[in-house]
Amino acid sequence: MPDLGVKIKDVILKNPIIIASGTPTYGSAMVKKCIQSEAAAFVTKTLCYTEWLRKQPRPRFHIEHPGAIDQEGYFSLYSTERFNPIPPEEYVKKMKAYVQEAHDFDVRVIASIAGTDVETWSKLAELVTENGADMIELNLQCPHVEKEQPTGMVAGRNPELCYSILELVRKWTSLPLIGKVVGEGVDPILVAQRMIAGGADAVVLTGRFQGLYLEIETEKPIYWGGMGGYGGPWQAPITRKWLVRASEANLQVPVIGGSGIDVFEDIISYILCGAKAVQVCTAIMVHGHKIIKRWLRQISGWMEAKGYNSISDFCGRSVNKIIAPSQIRGDIPYASRIDPEACRKCLKCLEACPYEAISVIETNLAIDPEKCDGCRLCVALCSEGAVEFYQK
Ligand SMILES: Cc1cc2nc3c(=O)[nH]c(=O)nc-3n(C[C@H](O)[C@H](O)[C@H](O)COP(=O)(O)O)c2cc1C
Repeated sequence: MPDLGVKIKDVILKNPIIIASGTPTYGSAMVKKCIQSEAAAFVTKTLCYTEWLRKQPRPRFHIEHPGAIDQEGYFSLYSTERFNPIPPEEYVKKMKAYVQEAHDFDVRVIASIAGTDVETWSKLAELVTENGADMIELNLQCPHVEKEQPTGMVAGRNPELCYSILELVRKWTSLPLIGKVVGEGVDPILVAQRMIAGGADAVVLTGRFQGLYLEIETEKPIYWGGMGGYGGPWQAPITRKWLVRASEANLQVPVIGGSGIDVFEDIISYILCGAKAVQVCTAIMVHGHKIIKRWLRQISGWMEAKGYNSISDFCGRSVNKIIAPSQIRGDIPYASRIDPEACRKCLKCLEACPYEAISVIETNLAIDPEKCDGCRLCVALCSEGAVEFYQK
């Protein structure tokens, strides 16, 4: 069996899967599922002192394209779930018990905190340290915060403020600190660098985006009347990009891949792009905590087939295989041809072809190899797999 263990600062994780802060770590029943899920760690629902951020909007979830969930297709989870509803002093008593139980299962507990000023950041850091957390994650990416409140995404978009917050929290704890980086409105690599300079021992790249669904009939936002957090499997390519950029920037601390994981291949691809571990939230909400056992089996199977004995054997292996824009070849001639047996004559390719290379000949569609530029748009558009691509 390959060894899936990884190390973040001095904390050994039995595998690279961390359950991210959110609905899958909300409340005791969910925490129990986290502990028994075989994930290596979970991040508590974010603790805060701001009262309105502890009250949950109702309703708070919308899923676009729910039919795609069971087909490994793209869906979006749009939501406005706020922080941990339990006051921090009360929650840490529960957390202490969670930590004991989690350690029996070799699971680490990461306390997520979100202060709004010097006092609250310090108090939260001290509180979770005294009550047994294994690591602390600073929530500097939540989209549901107010402009004038320097926490979550508002603070996270200000690299110098991130630096100061990390520097402050560092003074109040000796636990490993994870900075959770916002994914939009600022360069996440710059933010990560400032967090590390302030004392972060690891960073999560990145959080979800902020979005807006409108109903055009009423001309108002749907359900809760405001904006929401927006994410889903379509975020995976964006996360991979930031992981590669982080590798290029040589951040010198472990990078945890966040956002967009839906299948085990996503986890492997994040590690190939340099992630030491990954965080998952949405996939657990829609597939259940049980998905983690399946992923771990699948990851082990893939590693065995590849002959990898440990995560470090393939961590970052794709990074130097990504070529620069100017190096992408444009001089190899390609073309497409249509299989008339498979073609359903929907004419999408004919309408889309920018080179007018596709025409109807008698009753079939055909591609003129002289006109065809080899761009591959017709292949990409064909849902029947009726267009073949070849080197001329
Ligand atoms: C419903 C919901 C609630 C969340 N709550 C929190 C939270 O309390 N604290 C936090 O740091 N992140 C929170 N997140 C963000 C997740 O931890 C995670 O970073 C994000 O969803 C991206 O990962 P995913 O694509 O696997 O969902 C939440 C996400 C969702 C969807």
